[in-house]
Amino acid sequence: MEKSDTSSVYIIHENEEWIAPLKKNLEQDRTDYYDWNLTKGNVDLTETPPNGVFYNRMSASSFLRGNLYAKDLTAPILAWLEANNRRVINSRRALQLEVSKAEQHIALRQFGLQTPKTIVAVGKEEVIDASYSFNERPFIIKPNMGGKGHGVRLMNSRQELELLLETTPLEELTVDGVILVQEYIPPKDQQIVRMEFIAGKFYYAVQIDTGGSFELCPADACEIPSKTESKAPEFNILEGFDIPEIEKCEAFLAANNIEIAGMEFLQNESGERFFYDVNTNTNYNTGAEDKNPEGLQGMKRVAGFLREELDKVG
Ligand SMILES: Nc1ncnc2c1ncn2[C@@H]1O[C@H](COP(=O)(O)OP(=O)(O)OP(=O)(O)O)[C@@H](O)[C@H]1O
Ligand SMILES: [Mg+2]
Repeated sequence: MEKSDTSSVYIIHENEEWIAPLKKNLEQDRTDYYDWNLTKGNVDLTETPPNGVFYNRMSASSFLRGNLYAKDLTAPILAWLEANNRRVINSRRALQLEVSKAEQHIALRQFGLQTPKTIVAVGKEEVIDASYSFNERPFIIKPNMGGKGHGVRLMNSRQELELLLETTPLEELTVDGVILVQEYIPPKDQQIVRMEFIAGKFYYAVQIDTGGSFELCPADACEIPSKTESKAPEFNILEGFDIPEIEKCEAFLAANNIEIAGMEFLQNESGERFFYDVNTNTNYNTGAEDKNPEGLQGMKRVAGFLREELDKVG
C-alpha cells in the first residue's frame, strides 16, 4: 500500500459500488481518505502502519463478486493494525462475526437477544439429521457466510431438503462448507426491521416490507427491477422507534468492538422479536432516507463520525 504522510481515513473494502456514497460524503466534509480495496494486495507486516483511522467494511458477500479471499487478506491486516494500536473501526472481531452467522448467533445470545433455534452443520447427512429437530415444521437453511440473502432457502419439509441435497452439491449451497439449519419464523405482515447503529449508538430503524423475498440488500447499488412474481422490497424509516433491546444491542456491539452496524430482527405473529443477522458492512437506503421528515442520513453521519475520530488521532 502507499503510505501517506498525513493522517487519513482508510476505507478497507472490496466493492467500489458500495463505498461511492461514503466517498461523496467524505469529500463534502473535505476529509482525507484512502480507498483501500483489498480484493488483492500486499503489506509488509514488519513495517509500521500509517497514521489514521481504519474503517473496515469487508463484506461476507465478497465471494459473490469473485473476491473470496479478500476477507483472508483483511484479517491479518486488521490484526497488524490493532497490534500497532491504530484506530480501527469495526475490528478484527467484527470481521469474524461478519463472516459467520453461527458466531453471530452465539454472541447475540450472550447479550440476552432472542434468536431463532439454530443448528450448525457440516456434511450432507448431518444437515438432514439437523432438520429432524424441527418436527415437520418448515425450516430455513442458510450458508454460514452469507450476504444479500444469498442461499437462504425455506424448506417446507425434510423431503424437500433431501431432494435439494440429492441434486445440489453442498459446496454450491455454502462457500465455507458450513450450513445453518434454522427455525423458520414467519415474519408478521412479511416485514423485518433493520436497526442501524453508528458510533456504537442507535441511529434509526428501517422497516423492510420483504414481499416474501429473502434478498433484501438496502444499498442503492443493489436495486434491481422487481421480478414479475414478487414485488421489490420496500424500505421505510420508523418514526419514534424504541424497543428494550436497543440497550442490549449497544452492549453487544461494544463488547465485540463493532461501531457501525445494521442489526436485523423479525417479529412472529405474537410480536416476539428474534434477532438473526448482524451486518458490519452496512449500507443505507436513500429512498427511505429521502422520505423521512427528520433528515436522517446514514452515510453522512458515518462520514461525520470518521471525521471526528480522525481529528482525535490528529
Ligand atoms: N429464521 C428465519 N425465519 C424467517 N425468515 C428469515 C429467517 N432468517 C432469515 N430470514 C429472511 O431471510 C432474509 C435473509 O436472511 P439473512 O439476513 O440471515 O441473510 P443475509 O445473507 O445476511 O442477508 P443480508 O446480507 O441482505 O442482510 C432475512 O432478511 C429474512 O427476511
Ligand atoms: Mg440480512
